[in-house]
Formats: sequence, structure tokens, C-alpha cells
Amino acid sequence: MTKVNWGILGAARIVEKVLPIIANSMNGDLIAIGSRRTDAAKSLINKTCPELINKVQAFNGFDSVINHPKINAIYIPLANEDHVPTALKAIRTKKHVLIEKPMAIKTSDVELLLNEAKKYDVKVMEGFMYAFHPQFERLLDMIKSNILGEINYAYSMFSFPIQPARHYRINRPMKSGGGALWDIGPYAIHTLRQCLKENPIRVYAQANLNEHGADLSTTGMIDFGQNKRATFDISFECTRRSEIEVFGLSGRAKIPTIWQPEDQKGKIVYATEKSGYHEEIIPMASHFELEFKHFNECIIKKTAPKLSSQDALWNVKTLEALQQSIQNNQWVTID
Ligand SMILES: NC(=O)c1ccc[n+]([C@@H]2O[C@H](COP(=O)([O-])OP(=O)(O)OC[C@H]3O[C@@H](n4cnc5c(N)ncnc54)[C@H](OP(=O)(O)O)[C@@H]3O)[C@@H](O)[C@H]2O)c1
Repeated sequence: MTKVNWGILGAARIVEKVLPIIANSMNGDLIAIGSRRTDAAKSLINKTCPELINKVQAFNGFDSVINHPKINAIYIPLANEDHVPTALKAIRTKKHVLIEKPMAIKTSDVELLLNEAKKYDVKVMEGFMYAFHPQFERLLDMIKSNILGEINYAYSMFSFPIQPARHYRINRPMKSGGGALWDIGPYAIHTLRQCLKENPIRVYAQANLNEHGADLSTTGMIDFGQNKRATFDISFECTRRSEIEVFGLSGRAKIPTIWQPEDQKGKIVYATEKSGYHEEIIPMASHFELEFKHFNECIIKKTAPKLSSQDALWNVKTLEALQQSIQNNQWVTID
């Protein structure tokens, strides 16, 4: 195999960005997209890549995509609570799956997914595109090189005012996948875990819940043990922020726009006790393009994805514990 044949489930907003990337990839091709809404898949192809209208098949419904004999991999950018049932169907037809974050909204569901993927010998990866941008790789290199000293504190912040057209994201309780915690929380938490290089031992969070039980804003603390800790703030009722900063004994480093790099350009601002303040501009890159290129390579070369199964499991475990902490207003220990 030299190219991976893709199918997409759902005509989501995110697909407007990702469809051209999958279709024009060097090591991948787009075969079909399905939507539960009549003609929505066709309209989306017309809107994003009209030149592909006679090449990419558009289906009403998901089954024709999942069961398509030409397709090797399925991209799942559905609402959070729809990830698991559709991924299970795809895995059981021996399709590799790239699932948008969060992989699931229950740890037990991630375990089920990963066991099935093992049984059917397919690859599963949670879609954290930011991890493929060179600005994040540069931050990880700086941490590894120890110029900042051992990182013992980090914070992350992700927010934007939610638009009325997007209120369906907050019209159900957290436990059903609604609210900021399951929407933008995965980024804030995943990035902290990558930078601290540990898994949390306990978490605490407080939230402003709306009338549906969805969190509009959540602020939390994560205890990684060994005196390593992090805080985060996520919100749908605050101006745009998309940043992480890490701190060690001898320096600090910040990515000011980590999950939404401006014009795809990256930047790291850092300061060390020895050398003072620096700003580093990272060349432009499309994190989605790099993410799909990587996952295609893993399928073609039969190698393990950069974002592991254990990583997805710990991400959902941590988010689930934070949800429990909000509900009970107490620290929650994670096993
Ligand atoms: N990695 C990233 O940068 C990024 C960015 C945004 C979102 N995400 C993740 O991607 C997933 C999808 O997020 P999204 O915000 O792009 O999804 P969205 O637009 O809310 O769409 C989610 C699903 O709802 C259906 N839908 C879309 N528009 C609709 C409408 N007007 N009326 C009724 N149903 C509609 C679509 O399925 P049908 O076509 O089958 O109806 C679609 O697949 C989530 O897991 C999210 O966390 C990732």
C-alpha cells in the first residue's frame, strides 16, 4: 500500500478544513464522505473542493462509508458522544480510525475501543492536531534539553466567546458530552500532560454550569505527584486565549497560540536565568496536514502512532475525574 484510502463520517464544520487536506495528501486519498442529513455531504464537497465532486462519493448515512470495500481508514469528527458507537462499527469492518478529541467521554469506552482495535488489528489515534505543529515539537525539545530546568509547573488557557449558532455544544449536561470540559478541555489537559511528562494522581476543578448542566467555564488544578503541578482555565464566556506556559527552576517557555496558531505560524517566547528573554518564530505549517501524513505513514509502514492508546486512555481518565470533581466539589484521586 502506498496511499491510504479515507472515508469521513459527518459533514462537520471541522471537515471544511480537513477534507481538502485528506484529498490532496501525498500518502492518502479521499474516497467518500457520509452525512446523516440529506445531501449535506455533497454540499460540503461542493463548498470546499468542487473539483472533487465527481471523484469523491457522497452518501446519505454512514453505513456505505463504513462498509466501503475501497476504504482503509475512517476519520470521525462527530459530536463527542457519537465517537464510540461509530468507531466500533468502523473497527469491526477492519478500518483504521482517526477519532477527533476526546476519543470518548468515558474511560470504560476507551478501553472497549482499544481492545476491539487490538482484536481487529487496526490502528486508532485520538486527533490532537496541535501535537504535530513544529512549534509544539520545539517546546518539547526545549523541555528535553533541560535549558529550563526540570518542569515542575505549567498552566494552560483556552477560551473564546461561544456564538449563538454553536449553542448546541452547551445544550446537554457534561456527562452527555456537553460543555467546555469535553470540547476545549481535552486540549488544555492533553498539552499539560505532554509537557509535565507524567500522569495525574489527583485533580480538582470548579465550573460555572448553565441550566443544562454544561460547563461554560472551568478552572482546575492537576497534581502530578513529585511536586509537579498544573492549573488550567477553559471558557466559552471569555475572550480568545489559546496558550500554554511551562516553568522550571532555570527558565520558562510559552506558546501564545498553541491550538489555533495564527496564519499557521508558530511562536515560542522563552526566558532563562542565564540568557534572558527570547522570541522564536517557527515557520508556517499545517498541523492537520502533518497529522494525517503521520497517521497514513503508520498505516502504510505498520508503525505505532505518535499519540498512543495509553495517552488517549489517560486523557479521558483525567477529564472524567475533573467532571466528577466539579460535580462533588472535591479532589478526585486517579488510579
Ligand atoms: N481538531 C480540531 O481543531 C477540532 C476543531 C473543532 C472540532 N473538533 C472536534 O471535532 C468534532 C466535531 O466538531 P465540529 O464542531 O466540527 O462539529 P459540528 O459542526 O458540530 O458537527 C458535528 C456533527 O453534527 C452534524 N451537524 C453538523 N452541522 C449540523 C447542523 N447544522 N444541523 C444538524 N447536525 C449538524 C454532522 O453530522 P451529520 O453530517 O451526519 O449530520 C457533524 O458531523 C468534535 O469531536 C470536536 O471536539 C476538533
